[in-house]
Amino acid sequence: MIPNETIKKIQEEVNIVEVVSEYVNLKKSGNNYVGLCPFHDDKNNPSMTVSAEKKIFNCWTCHTKGNVIQFVSKIENISFSQAAIKLGKRVGIAVSDNLNKEDEKKNRLYDLLDEASNFYQFYLNHSEEGIKALEYLHNRGIDDEIIKTFKIGLAPDLYDSLTKHLTKKNYLELDQIEVGIARDGNKGLYDTFRNRIMFPLSNVYGRTIGFSGRIYNQVDQAKYINSNDNYVFHKSDVLYNLNNAVSEINKKKQVYIYEGFMDVIAAYRCGMKNAVATMGTALTKSHINTLLKLTQNIVLCFDGDSAGIGAMHHAATLFSEFNVIPYSVVLPNNQDPDEYIKEHGSKSLYDYLNNEARPVYEWLYRLAKKRLVVGDLISSESFKKEVFAFLKETKVSTVVEYYLNQMAKDLNVEFESIKRDFDKYNFSYSNYQPKEIKKEVKETKTSSSKKVKRAFQVIIKHLLYDSQIYNKIDGNEFIDTSLNLEFSLIAKIFEMLTSDTNLINNPAYSEIIINELNKNNNFKAYIDQIINDKTIDINDKKEFEDCVKTKREYLNKINFKKQKDKFIKQPNKENVDKYVQAKRDLLG
Ligand code: UTP
Ligand code: MN
Repeated sequence: MIPNETIKKIQEEVNIVEVVSEYVNLKKSGNNYVGLCPFHDDKNNPSMTVSAEKKIFNCWTCHTKGNVIQFVSKIENISFSQAAIKLGKRVGIAVSDNLNKEDEKKNRLYDLLDEASNFYQFYLNHSEEGIKALEYLHNRGIDDEIIKTFKIGLAPDLYDSLTKHLTKKNYLELDQIEVGIARDGNKGLYDTFRNRIMFPLSNVYGRTIGFSGRIYNQVDQAKYINSNDNYVFHKSDVLYNLNNAVSEINKKKQVYIYEGFMDVIAAYRCGMKNAVATMGTALTKSHINTLLKLTQNIVLCFDGDSAGIGAMHHAATLFSEFNVIPYSVVLPNNQDPDEYIKEHGSKSLYDYLNNEARPVYEWLYRLAKKRLVVGDLISSESFKKEVFAFLKETKVSTVVEYYLNQMAKDLNVEFESIKRDFDKYNFSYSNYQPKEIKKEVKETKTSSSKKVKRAFQVIIKHLLYDSQIYNKIDGNEFIDTSLNLEFSLIAKIFEMLTSDTNLINNPAYSEIIINELNKNNNFKAYIDQIINDKTIDINDKKEFEDCVKTKREYLNKINFKKQKDKFIKQPNKENVDKYVQAKRDLLG
């Protein structure tokens, strides 16, 4: 790797205006320079700005932007490192001399990943498949400017197009395998990511270190797949968008942490650019170290469901080891920022995120209190436990006293008795039971898609462990409607049950089913997730029944939509009858 200091030094010492002038005719305009953008067909409307002060270029039309090294890399069609070496020579900074063997290898892998990212971006914008993928993105409110900014691309629905391209450009096959871009099959290398919208993940210097790929036109696949950890990619260190967000974090002296990178993009849409996300993992000390170097003003924006509360609690505990109390903001109705924008618009999201941030303990307290039934002793006890659990973790005595006082008021008891119970309370993660939280959260409003998803997960878990329960579900419902991963999982279980009628009485029933499912990589991760989800209790048959009901309603809704479409297209008697029946089913 070219040492970050060296990259910084080159950026600082090279005069970007001078360099760009060698390719583009620049004119001074205010503090900046403008010229025709070389990266799109800019004939008569100079739309590229170069700022000597900020040391960046930016095209207002095609949204290509970056620092001087990126400019040269792009315009000369050479790698980032080659551009750095070239510019280094200009100002007498020897780059290659600074590389040791390890750095050299990292650098080689970064270049390869950058090239892959360019390939994906090109394919999104210049292919038949890309038209469909762009349509998907646009429908989600992700416009061309955002696509450029986040370097979103598309992995072709082809066997080995990327690896062929990279090999032709002399990137080593072993390197491609090492970074997880290609796999070794019996017919040679093939692409790991196929038919997915690609989100490049970068380090803080903007070098690509891996990818996350999202499905957009299929249903029976994991929603996202990520690069596996490797020499340059360590999932638990990565903060999505950190490289773009740094300047805004510095400016606002504040950073928002989200649960998913789509949330970061939603925040960007409402003008909040100081946003980062973990890659589907809990916050780690490494994340916290990175962020605290930039600011101590941290805002967590997690979902209000039990997983989100757990994540908030975990984050509060980790931060308290650094003597920092983060803020938190939780969107209503368990929505994520993306869903919130869809319902309320981006202005409303902006206001909410800005106005509702409170110290994390305040939100944890509020969410716990939401489920408190005053006067009900059992509810009071679980409320106390939940609050005690996070208060035990903070080292700040004033915080503890404040909330113990608050509890005394809310429970209508003396401070002293709350305090006595608190002192007696022995918290450890092992006796912390998110299950209780989950059950009570469920009663508050959950957005319907999350509710449906959970219902399917509950059903799957019961099916995995209880062979007798299969007759409560009609397996046929899942066979032709491959709507999502859950459907294909359930269909697969029924397929096994019907092909081997002895299976239900086999004592190793669970083991056999799980083993078989695990043979499919897409199933495996999801099955692990469901099995490890402690909030799903397979002894809770009442919840199971509720979930079967939810599933029924969901299927009715889908069927209704389908029949309605048919009926509109072709309003013959058969379709009218079916439509009417579907509507009846829907209304119950
Ligand atoms: P979410 O399921 O909340 O995704 O996962 P999302 O951000 O709302 O995305 P959309 O709106 O459905 O497109 C949050 C994060 O968990 C990780 C990803 O990092 C994601 O951003 N994740 C999720 C995975 O790694 N794999 C998955 O299959 C799902
Ligand atoms: Mn989402």
